[in-house]
Amino acid sequence: MKAGFLGVGHYTPEKVLTNQDLEKMVDTSDEWIRTRTGIEERRIASDDMDTSDLAVRAAEEALKDADMDAKDLDMILVATVTPDTPFPSVATMLQEKLGANKVAAMDLSAACAGFMYGVITAKQFIETHAYTNVLVVGVEKLSKITDWNDRNTCVLFGDGAGAAVIGPVSEDKGILSFELGSDGSGGSHLYQKPEEKLQMNGREVFKFAVRQMPESSVNVVKKIGLSEQDVDYLIPHQANIRIMEAARQRLGIPEEKMSTSVKRYGNTSSASIPIALSEDVKAGKIKDNDLVVLVGFGGGLTWGAVALRWGK
Ligand code: ACO
Repeated sequence: MKAGFLGVGHYTPEKVLTNQDLEKMVDTSDEWIRTRTGIEERRIASDDMDTSDLAVRAAEEALKDADMDAKDLDMILVATVTPDTPFPSVATMLQEKLGANKVAAMDLSAACAGFMYGVITAKQFIETHAYTNVLVVGVEKLSKITDWNDRNTCVLFGDGAGAAVIGPVSEDKGILSFELGSDGSGGSHLYQKPEEKLQMNGREVFKFAVRQMPESSVNVVKKIGLSEQDVDYLIPHQANIRIMEAARQRLGIPEEKMSTSVKRYGNTSSASIPIALSEDVKAGKIKDNDLVVLVGFGGGLTWGAVALRWGK
């Protein structure tokens, strides 16, 4: 028995903030943002919607997609760097809001690689037969930690949530290999101190990501004895189209085989991979038996990747 994806869901707020809107807020241009990042617009959550409110919508859609009730869950994991409060966790808020049983629930902090850490943690509990169904959510309300006067960062981020129910699938499907890693020496490149806004050294993060994402993508495929040509679909963390392109070109797969939702949502940190996965599965871009690579990187520094065979 392997752990795999039983259902996926996502939620993005209605309010759209375009590059043209940002031109009126800081000294930037649509042309600069598009050519440097690939981003055209992003979503911003309303004041009355916090991180857990975004999470619950994505989770409900994932449960529906898995044809499950919240009472079927054995564990809830939430990857986020923008929780409603330091504690209680978003995961416990979700337990209550979803009406799940009083099951294990915790938040994970691994920045943009958080969803990958959540999926791999879920896999361990499932494949050791401790739990059957684990809800994993990647969710961020980055707008509340964004400095809207800093053009270096405010053009990059957006709000959103993505979710997946991870559970048992047949032996030839599901998560086939993974890689997780961290390098705390790069912590000062991307961080947020209490009561302050997000700080980033974009150039250093770029250098790290452009090396790590292609490397991790290839590693997870090699671990299962396959080669780059066997990959059917790639979902890299949606941070910057140029970083994503580095991973795609390293795997040698065509443009249409990679998610590019960064255009519409910007960088939603831990939510970016599950949002893209949910959208692309529903759009029929990912089909039964496809070999899919998910790969993320983020503040910490952290990274994580999986190779999986889509289907149950
Ligand atoms: N509009 C116009 N000019 C800008 C803007 C802007 N929004 N932002 C920066 N600039 C300027 C800079 O001030 C700089 O000007 P200078 O040369 O006069 O100093 C110039 O543009 C070029 O800056 P660079 O840093 O060289 O631009 P670069 O091509 O590296 O692109 C970017 C910057 C997009 C931030 C890139 O470095 C990047 O994507 N880095 C990775 C960021 C990332 O992925 N972060 C998220 C990690 S995941 C997580 O955990 C949240």
